[in-house]
Amino acid sequence: MTLSMKDKILKRFLLSSGEPISGQNLAEELGISRTAVWKHLQSLQEEGYTFDTIKKKGYLLRSKPDRVDAASIASLLSTERFGQTIHYYQECATTQTIAHELARTGAPDGTVVIAETQTDGKGRMSRPWESTRGKGIWMTVIIKPDVLPHQAPQFTLVAAVAIVNAMKSLYSNFTPVIKWPNDILINGRKCTGILTEMIAEMDRVQALLIGIGINVNQQQGDFPEELHAIATSLGMEEDRALNRAELVGTILNYLEKYSDLYMAEGFAPIKKLWEEASGTIGKQIKATTLRDVIQGKAIGITESGVLEIQLENGEIRSVYSADIEL
Ligand code: BTN
Repeated sequence: MTLSMKDKILKRFLLSSGEPISGQNLAEELGISRTAVWKHLQSLQEEGYTFDTIKKKGYLLRSKPDRVDAASIASLLSTERFGQTIHYYQECATTQTIAHELARTGAPDGTVVIAETQTDGKGRMSRPWESTRGKGIWMTVIIKPDVLPHQAPQFTLVAAVAIVNAMKSLYSNFTPVIKWPNDILINGRKCTGILTEMIAEMDRVQALLIGIGINVNQQQGDFPEELHAIATSLGMEEDRALNRAELVGTILNYLEKYSDLYMAEGFAPIKKLWEEASGTIGKQIKATTLRDVIQGKAIGITESGVLEIQLENGEIRSVYSADIEL
């Protein structure tokens, strides 16, 4: 990972497990002067980090601002590629556009664009996406798999199982379920949306842009009125404030694991994971596609991630993209 000197210092503190670090040691380790170390610590303090000075021993990180920057995420990663390059923004229009640009100009596989807030967040079907400052995870992961364009939608399902399993590994007060293809719900309310975009030639995917929006620490009042009945946040469900960087790191760990699994063994193991986490299969649903409305029982997803709906007359319809109502 390419970290700035300040981020390298921060990472040392984040990994110091409660042990003070001396300015002298830091300076020697990083090959800079003690004055430079001190200046970086001052600049971290200006950003909201607080340090205790322990006599004769050095500095101890006391508290950190709640941010999803590279240094806060780095200490939680166990990946080789995903999250090894992170572009962090206090604010941007949408992480998708930045990711497009980066993907076109050679960003490596697993590059992440993440922001504290988006002023023009994009949902599916050109809907706006509410991205409250500092309260959620608004990120795009650039994936560069060697697959054909028609396989791209399967990565939405890869992302959905990665996110659900990351949540299950961290939280215990709720069970997230996937609503085909790309919403994650808790008790019927949406906490996460995924928007997958693709840069491709006819026969080759250049990059997939997996846009992930997760409501983490909003309270009811943070949502606009029209979302009150249909949206929720993980913090509201878990009943405590959650560490966003921890969730980002855990998602990236699962995302790399499941992308690699998909590349090694195909869609079958992902389909199994997806069906285990699905809240759609076996239910009566209404699917609104661009062309028509289909009502029936969701009976499964195919090897290629297409949803199959059985109509009352027994006919089975395949749905590639739709809005689903349960
Ligand atoms: C949906 O459910 O409609 C998809 C929502 C996707 C939102 C995320 S937030 C990060 C990325 N940047 C965007 O502008 N959108 C996606």
